[in-house]
Amino acid sequence: MDEKYESAMNCLRKYGQEHILNNYDKLSDEKKEKLLNQILTIDLNQIKELYESTKKEVSFANDKIEPIDFVDKSALSEEELNKYNTLGENEIKKGKYAVVTMAGGQGTRLGHNGPKGTFKLGLENDKSIFEILIDNLKANNEKYGVTIPWYIMTSRENNEQTENFFKENNYFGYDPKAIMFFKQGELPMCSEEGKLLMDENGSIKEAADGHGGIFESMRRNGVIFDMQQKGIEWAFIGPVDNVLVKMVDPTLLGVAIDKNVLAAGKSVVKAGPKEKVGVFCKRNGKPGVVEYTEITEDLAEATDENGNLVFAESHINCNLFNVKAIEEVSLKKLPYHSAHKKAKYIDENGELVVPEKPNAYKFESFIFDAFDMLEDMAILRVKREEEFAPVKNAEGNDSPETARKLYKDFYGIK
Ligand code: UD1
Repeated sequence: MDEKYESAMNCLRKYGQEHILNNYDKLSDEKKEKLLNQILTIDLNQIKELYESTKKEVSFANDKIEPIDFVDKSALSEEELNKYNTLGENEIKKGKYAVVTMAGGQGTRLGHNGPKGTFKLGLENDKSIFEILIDNLKANNEKYGVTIPWYIMTSRENNEQTENFFKENNYFGYDPKAIMFFKQGELPMCSEEGKLLMDENGSIKEAADGHGGIFESMRRNGVIFDMQQKGIEWAFIGPVDNVLVKMVDPTLLGVAIDKNVLAAGKSVVKAGPKEKVGVFCKRNGKPGVVEYTEITEDLAEATDENGNLVFAESHINCNLFNVKAIEEVSLKKLPYHSAHKKAKYIDENGELVVPEKPNAYKFESFIFDAFDMLEDMAILRVKREEEFAPVKNAEGNDSPETARKLYKDFYGIK
């Protein structure tokens, strides 16, 4: 065996992962080369640490979690609203504003076979989510006399399909030079015993590393550089799966500028203690979000003297960052959260295993974990019916049906 194989084997041995080379001989030369390169570039120590972290309970016991201050848009006087809007509009008109859309997720819950943005909402005009977002950007371009640069984060799994969708549809009339696609990062998955898994292509199974990886991906793929070259100072980072997302909002930008902070996030009032949304908070004095998968019942259900939820500012993944903040965070490491998932894999005998229940861990970082790296951020509470129509599940809550209704009501479509 050659030197490269030996080095790869040595790395694996150190971490008890030798099984990865069990079926090596059966692979084509190309796949052999790819696998060895993968082994030599993966940080096996990091995977070991991430696996160990799945055994520890997430605890806020030592953290001081408090409600966060926010600006309630509907309670602003006309004068205040005008002040914020003018501040924001001036920057947008000067071409200092860009939009980034996180479209790397798999949309498993929606059951759509393809990138979530290509999903058709079921409107009479047959528009896909991407087209709905483009309509919104175009309207703003016209309003402010600019072409807003649009950066779309995809993943290895959906990048080609996403790019082709835009090409085949002539970018829906958007200037292709103003659109840039970039891929998010990945991390290996591991079994419940901490073993790496093989995928059907003879490689180590990897999965998207969550949207927290966006900052590093933006640096690695030249997005930050491109923004700096274009003189962009502010970037809105939002989800692909909210058909009422207001990607260009001078009020949000104006609030950030007025408060002299490098980031601002939007909230809507949480519908109830069990709603599957993260909530903004102050954690040890710094801005943060407690995710719905990690919040304790006590915190989720706490109410004030008027019976309102204490932690009511739902994070809707609509956040604005100064490019300086993006660059700063891109150089730091965000913490990872683990998720217990079903993952197909090839076992040691070369057989495909399709699990019926969760059998593996996936590691993801979350965009909002970047908040506490910032001194402070502003929160703007907006109206749910105006800005939050998520498309997450095939049926029931946050489904195409509920999103369609919200969309139609907002635009006055019968
Ligand atoms: C998310 C938020 C939650 C918020 C809720 C509002 C997280 C972890 N939680 O929950 O705080 O209250 O939305 O609806 O985000 N994405 C990527 N790459 C990834 C993972 C996700 O681009 O690796 C994108 C998705 O395409 C989507 C967005 O991020 O646009 C949200 O991801 P999703 O995993 O659906 O988050 P939720 O669990 O719904």
